Amino acid sequence: MRVLGIETSCDETGVAVYDHRQGLLAHTLYSQIGVHAEFGGVVPELASRDHVRKTVPLVAETLERAGLQGRDIDGVAYTAGPGLVGALLVGAAIGRSLAWGWGVPAVPVHHMEGHLLAPMLEEPRPGFPFVALLVSGGHTQLVEVQSVGRYRMLGDSLDDAAGEAFDKTAKLLGLPYPGGPELARLAEKGRPDRFRFPRPMTDRPGLDFSFSGLKTFALHTLQRELADAEIPTQEREQIKADIAYAFEQAVVETLVIKCRRALDETGSRTLVLAGGVSANRRLRERMREAIAGEAGEVFYPRPEYCTDNGAMIAFAGAQRLLGGQQEPLRFAVDPRWRLVDLPAIDRRR
Ligand code: KG4
Ligand code: ZN
Repeated sequence: MRVLGIETSCDETGVAVYDHRQGLLAHTLYSQIGVHAEFGGVVPELASRDHVRKTVPLVAETLERAGLQGRDIDGVAYTAGPGLVGALLVGAAIGRSLAWGWGVPAVPVHHMEGHLLAPMLEEPRPGFPFVALLVSGGHTQLVEVQSVGRYRMLGDSLDDAAGEAFDKTAKLLGLPYPGGPELARLAEKGRPDRFRFPRPMTDRPGLDFSFSGLKTFALHTLQRELADAEIPTQEREQIKADIAYAFEQAVVETLVIKCRRALDETGSRTLVLAGGVSANRRLRERMREAIAGEAGEVFYPRPEYCTDNGAMIAFAGAQRLLGGQQEPLRFAVDPRWRLVDLPAIDRRR
């Protein structure tokens, strides 16, 4: 089965074709960074309008790269939530229309299920069951995954998601949008052990997360350290890099502690990292160091499949279509769709 996947939940238009026998045949991505950069964050209405402009041309380009035509597609998958409602509606309307025109089924995909299954796009693939750490701009979740659609929420963010905390702290440090990768780059120049940030909610049991305090901690540290107007520019920049380092380290160590705890509590030995923040080099390295080996195995997608992309939507859609999921001709989207409300799929590939 060949599935066209369309991702338009936020500020990236992603399109891909996944074949369940041959794997990924083509994928294209258009990032709206240029549209939103001057505003310092995503402007929802501009995002929708840009998806309108870019989605259909990207579908044409993706099919061409795969050497396919519309009639070669067996199903269409599109992100139906969570995300920005206008942006979701663009992908849903286009996905549904293409499927109707081609006479094939269409399936709405949960954005976080897309992230969660992304490590299965390539070998070596994690086997079910596993524990997934989903770390994106909107979510920080620990999920026990039995199979496609059988999800138990182990922990969730009580306030800012990890990616959101990265983005907000980056802004405080004067870095451009999107802040996460910029902060990670700055942290490379930071001096270890210059500052120590707290590891929120690790001193008590439980698997929930709270990252908004770290942003405030960063702000206070910045104000205190830069209060003296006499500090030379070079030293000011070094202090910012030191703060970026300490912030990143605190987020990474907190995630490592919670993941270890989740593996202990579930008895699972397989951990999957997914979502935009899982592209973070330090997180990937530290998680492997801390967990791989005796405690278990760690899987994460290559960086381009960590952040939003069409490949993960095509893959998740293929699993659901192969499992026989049918949807009537309607395109409901749900900006607050809950992962635990998904129907389960029994077929295993
Ligand atoms: O999964 P994603 O592309 O979109 C959402 O579903 O939210 O995640 C985007 C988030 C942003 O907050 C971005 O700053 C963060 O992932 N991010 C990173 C890195 N790359 C992306 N955060 C830290 N380090 C990175 N290398
Ligand atoms: Zn995402």
